[in-house]
Amino acid sequence: MNRSVLKTAGHSFRSKNMSKRVQNITVSAIKEMMLLASDIEEPFLLAQGIPAEDTPDHVKKAIIEAVNGPHASKYSILSGLKECRQAVATRYKRKYDVNFDVNTEIGITAGAMEACMISCLATINPGDEVILIAPCFSSHIEQVLTSGGIPVFVDTDEKNGWCLDMNKIKKAITKKTKAIIVTNPSNPSGAVYSESEIRELAKIALKHDLFIIADETYDFLTYNKIPFFSFCQIPELKKNLILIGSSSKEYSMTGYRIGWMICENDILNQLFKLHDATTVCACVASQFGFIAAVNGPQDSVIELVKNMEERRDLICKRLDKVPHLFKYYKKPQGAYYILPEIAFPHKDSIQAAFEIQKATSVVTVPGVAFSPMGEHHIRMSFGGGAVRGPKGKDLINQAFDKLEEWGKKYI
Ligand SMILES: Cc1ncc(COP(=O)(O)O)c(C=O)c1O
Repeated sequence: MNRSVLKTAGHSFRSKNMSKRVQNITVSAIKEMMLLASDIEEPFLLAQGIPAEDTPDHVKKAIIEAVNGPHASKYSILSGLKECRQAVATRYKRKYDVNFDVNTEIGITAGAMEACMISCLATINPGDEVILIAPCFSSHIEQVLTSGGIPVFVDTDEKNGWCLDMNKIKKAITKKTKAIIVTNPSNPSGAVYSESEIRELAKIALKHDLFIIADETYDFLTYNKIPFFSFCQIPELKKNLILIGSSSKEYSMTGYRIGWMICENDILNQLFKLHDATTVCACVASQFGFIAAVNGPQDSVIELVKNMEERRDLICKRLDKVPHLFKYYKKPQGAYYILPEIAFPHKDSIQAAFEIQKATSVVTVPGVAFSPMGEHHIRMSFGGGAVRGPKGKDLINQAFDKLEEWGKKYI
């Protein structure tokens, strides 16, 4: 199934002398749509997940001070500044009352993205199967494929808020299964898996000795006070767990590229080989920013969650007015994405996203990017952040004004 927007748009990709590996993957359609949108003069950017809120002032100040100080121009040690690893440990102690050893169990990466990529490279052998809960984060597909793995998509139940089907997951496990990648809360579906579901997944992983690669980038962002339960709260899973997190969304630091990976030391030592081979260390000035973010006031996070919930309600309200264009079953429970079905006549989700973009300058992501189950859906972010054009609620309202006007022809 073609999931490359750039290929569909006619971009050329050399195959002569290029590796099979690179020919087997695509740029995530999220970024492909952003690339194509760079030509639009006044875009309405609902594609990439960026918070509308600015980086908190005390974080910016710490970064500026770091830039003017003695450390930012130099590499940090491979694992990240000790104070930065300590900030990660502090975050988990505060949030989950779980202790991690700052010296042996935490590595700072260039975003959660790097942590996911090197976790896949370090655990997957060519031909290994990796279970992805579908629809899944598009980059996880490319990371599994880059590692030579075979993505095994286990579909969720869309009508019931994209919830998990444990029997389907159990049935998908074979002798070749190596890992389960779990994104909770889910990008793109907005599902939040419950404590009992997370415990059940951990049980399955332990029974079959599989890795759980847990991408908990949005662990701080659930709505209506839905509790979040982290894999790190299951001590017996620790030997099979690579826990991944990010500063990008919680502290509006997407451009600063700070994420982390947490796991037992003998796994981490393997991950560091790949971190060294690709990145050496995360941006040092940004590490200082993250230290300030964790150790400073947390009001900005409370405010961000409140704003996101309002934007979630707004996008759902606007979607409710255009049932002839899009259909969704339940409001997202976490993260800041919604993945409605496409209700207007269309060939596939890439063509539909192109049509929307051409007619309205509203930039979305074709659902096929998120597994075959995502086909005939469109992902919209209500993060509200955009490098160009309107932001926040204005962005959602103006984008939907355009969509409503254009969609009249389908009534
Ligand atoms: C599930 C998930 N993981 C990872 C990332 C990337 O995070 P980072 O900016 O820390 O690399 C994103 C960004 O949208 C995401 O949605």
